[in-house]
Amino acid sequence: MKQENKMVEYNLTASEFNWEIRPGKTINAWGFNKQLPGPVLRANVGDMLIVRVTNNLEEATTIHWHGIRLPASMDGTDSVQKPIEPGEVFEYRFIVPDAGSFWYHAHTNETIQMERGMYGALIVDDETDPVFDGERIFMIDDMKLDKYNHFTRPSWFLPILIERHDGRQGNTLLLNGKENSVINMNGGQTERWRFINSSSARYFLLHLNGKTFKIIGTDGGLLEHPVTLDEVLITPGERVDIAIGPFADGEIFAIESLAYNRTTFLKAKRETFATVRVGESKPSKAHLPERLRMIDPLAKQDAVISRKIKLSVDPRLRDGKDFRIDGHTHTNDQPVIAGELQVWEVSNSSLMDHPFHLHGFFFQVIDENGKAPAFRAWKDTYNLKLKSKIKIAWMPDNRIGTWMYHCHIIEHHAAGMMATFDVIDGSTALVEKPPTHAHHHH
Ligand code: C2O
Ligand code: CU
Repeated sequence: MKQENKMVEYNLTASEFNWEIRPGKTINAWGFNKQLPGPVLRANVGDMLIVRVTNNLEEATTIHWHGIRLPASMDGTDSVQKPIEPGEVFEYRFIVPDAGSFWYHAHTNETIQMERGMYGALIVDDETDPVFDGERIFMIDDMKLDKYNHFTRPSWFLPILIERHDGRQGNTLLLNGKENSVINMNGGQTERWRFINSSSARYFLLHLNGKTFKIIGTDGGLLEHPVTLDEVLITPGERVDIAIGPFADGEIFAIESLAYNRTTFLKAKRETFATVRVGESKPSKAHLPERLRMIDPLAKQDAVISRKIKLSVDPRLRDGKDFRIDGHTHTNDQPVIAGELQVWEVSNSSLMDHPFHLHGFFFQVIDENGKAPAFRAWKDTYNLKLKSKIKIAWMPDNRIGTWMYHCHIIEHHAAGMMATFDVIDGSTALVEKPPTHAHHHH
């Protein structure tokens, strides 16, 4: 039986507040409902989500619903709405059409607002989801704090250059807004862990002291089959859902990130985000099928390319680098026509990695540097390694309006690596089509 579609309402109030990231260590955060991360928003597939956002900050904001296939007017960028000014309320309202792990975050002055904590998880459930003994949501972040636990901005040439180049990578490692947390789980159980990388620039190479886990989902929901691994890269903006366990009573292991070299000034290190302690064993009701769902391929690996997008980083005099799309910073790309399959080649000519994010639509990676990917998935964010190329396929549906794509390293986005484009209606796009009498009286 299909569940009834409902209206699910939330109120989010953005404000400044004190937040304890560990006993005795308090920061001045910005966020929602005085929580860091903001509250988990949850609905079933097909529900109408209504989120009333009150802005009690001293500056304007907008909220983006990362990964949700919503109408353009609800996408929360300043291309589609007036920013919510201090004291104002804005109501976002959209249907959540896909099950999976999504998130929301500020999309105005992001290098400050996201860094300070303006993000939260948005989970969409489906009655066909596999059954687990438990579920956890882990939002990964890092903050760059000084010895007084204040947020800092670099003020000298070299630090400015480093932060612009690398993105803002901090030394305070947070899992759900807390440092050094301990996760208690029962032995004998299998859980679903949803990882969301909400950091500005950190590449999180998930590792659990070598224990294997199964990837069951990513940005756009479940994969076709679980994939067993012992490490997986989760770049800023990406989500990975894993099935984990069962473990024996008494086991202890770390949730850590291995060093990942994305070519930064700061040297990549292996670092621990939290510790898992396994307690008393309990019976399990978990059931993970081998076939999770079908994902129909949108295009073949050799499909004809309809557009080329070039990400580049070029020298400039004042502060080191310009981050560009097709040779321009903060640019506009050509429109696409609703209903016409898009096959985009996205290339990265720079000497560093960039997580490419498309708003509002999922894509399939059909080729990466001449190879087909290991498994099919619906993605909205995908890491482009240095000097590499991917081919993505996606279908613009009838959600007419202005959308964007950009690098999800927030400092690179701010430094220009972003473009807007319109999805337009095919029937009005064909202006050269000769008029016919059939146009009258219909
Ligand atoms: Cu999560 Cu425009 O971004
Ligand atoms: Cu980038």
